[in-house]
Amino acid sequence: MNDQLRRAPAPDLLPRFVQIVGDKYAVTDAQTLAPHLIEGRGLYQGRSSLMLRPGSTQEVAAILKLANETKTAVVPQGGNTGLVGGQIPFDGELILSLTRLDKIREVDAASNTITVEAGVVLQRAQQAAEAAGRLFPLSLGSEGSCTIGGNLSTNAGGTGALAYGIARELVVGVEVVLADGRVMHLLRKLKKDNTGYDLRHIFVGAEGTLGIITAAVLKLFPRPRAVETAFIGLPSPAAAVKLLNLAQARVSGTVTGFELMARGIIDFALKHGHGNRDPLAGQHAWYVLLEVSSQQDKGLREEVEHFLADAVEQGLVEDATIAASLDQTKAFWHMRHTLTEVQKPEGGSIKHDVSVPVAAVPDFIAEASAAVIALIPGSRPVPFGHVGDGNIHFNVSQPIGADKDAFLARWVEVNNVVDKIVLKYHGSISAEHGIGTLKRDSLVKVKDPVALALMRDFKKMLDPNGILNPGKVL
Ligand code: FAD
Ligand code: MLT
Ligand code: ZN
Repeated sequence: MNDQLRRAPAPDLLPRFVQIVGDKYAVTDAQTLAPHLIEGRGLYQGRSSLMLRPGSTQEVAAILKLANETKTAVVPQGGNTGLVGGQIPFDGELILSLTRLDKIREVDAASNTITVEAGVVLQRAQQAAEAAGRLFPLSLGSEGSCTIGGNLSTNAGGTGALAYGIARELVVGVEVVLADGRVMHLLRKLKKDNTGYDLRHIFVGAEGTLGIITAAVLKLFPRPRAVETAFIGLPSPAAAVKLLNLAQARVSGTVTGFELMARGIIDFALKHGHGNRDPLAGQHAWYVLLEVSSQQDKGLREEVEHFLADAVEQGLVEDATIAASLDQTKAFWHMRHTLTEVQKPEGGSIKHDVSVPVAAVPDFIAEASAAVIALIPGSRPVPFGHVGDGNIHFNVSQPIGADKDAFLARWVEVNNVVDKIVLKYHGSISAEHGIGTLKRDSLVKVKDPVALALMRDFKKMLDPNGILNPGKVL
């Protein structure tokens, strides 16, 4: 880190920063700033006395140029839904909010691309694609408030990654403002462009530490003509993995969603989630939310019915219901998307967003559950997640009646136990949420040292004064 870096902007510089966006878009009052200083789960509280809301790429460039010349730190922020604290200013840094860059510049149905600015909320991008008869498949529980800039900067995954890929795979082109204010124009719609190094991917997943993404060209897909959604009760994660393989082999459509949930998290959803109802009559140890999509108008429902009947015969499925209406489909997904929220009323929750090879998911869940219960008797693992990507949100709720702060004080200890099992299976300690602040100390323990050294070299080259999101990732 550069010694001369100023975390909070120097008082004499404030008017110069404000002048770039104008008084109206320079936020200084504590009440308006407050929601931008806390992370959604209440894990982090930051501080800042200035948030700039530029309205154009040129204004972003002017802000970074001044910040770089004066060695002033900048924390980029989109929808503030990040789960690792990357968007939080911890030391009074200036917040660079991208939410006014909210234009959908173009939907090109023939090229299957959409060009959007960084502050466009994910749901708006999905809706714009739909209006043009196309699908933008990135889908997260936070899609009503997270932004495309945040999605790309965290390389978000979500429920559609299984079939359509993570955010990185959906990016065709980017426009990025570099730390010194230069603008890199790579807003191309080309699938094929082998003119040297593919620089767009350096900024995807960089969590605002290498540059500011101001716009992107994203990939669109044909909308499926038929979609079937089923809520399935099953005996074990091992049955879920076999069911996934069977579905992918047997159904002529594409498996576009396959979400695993432990009964424990379903209980939380029924208890604390608004409008949730148990989709199946009896209780099951595990559940899968399955979505299959097809370009054929007819026959998909019958295929899914037959496939599920076979799976029952094979002992993989105990009970299942296929959504009978659009409302029921929405209710199934609504329940899935409430899972982050419904953990809060149960007290402290220690999180792990991890991935292992798909085949290792059942062993990982069994071993990690036993290990954390041995460490903290009464603690309640409530794993769920994108099992088709090997990505499990291995979240552990505090023992009933335990002291929340005392439980949360054991966060690192619990992480160490779980991460050890992740590494045993050659997995990743951050599957889709990123590193931010939360996993910065863990990163140095698990990343290949040569890769880590290269990451530091990239950071030094692209941001020699260390102004971009200091203290995050590295
Ligand atoms: P922010 O939180 O504002 O920022 C995230 C990071 O990106 C920060 O480091 C920030 O500095 C940086 N950043 C933001 N904008 C830019 C930019 N334009 N240029 C450079 N850097 C920038 N994540 C998943 O991957 N999968 C899920 O399934 C998922 N589900 C979620 C469900 C819920 C209910 C919630 C609350 C969160 C979930 N998340 C999930 C996490 C979160 O929504 C994603 O990380 C999302 O991509 C963050 O977008 P954002 O606009 O809110 O970014
Ligand atoms: C999800 O898939 O719902 C989120 O990524 C999980 C989380 O909030 O931990
Ligand atoms: Zn997730």
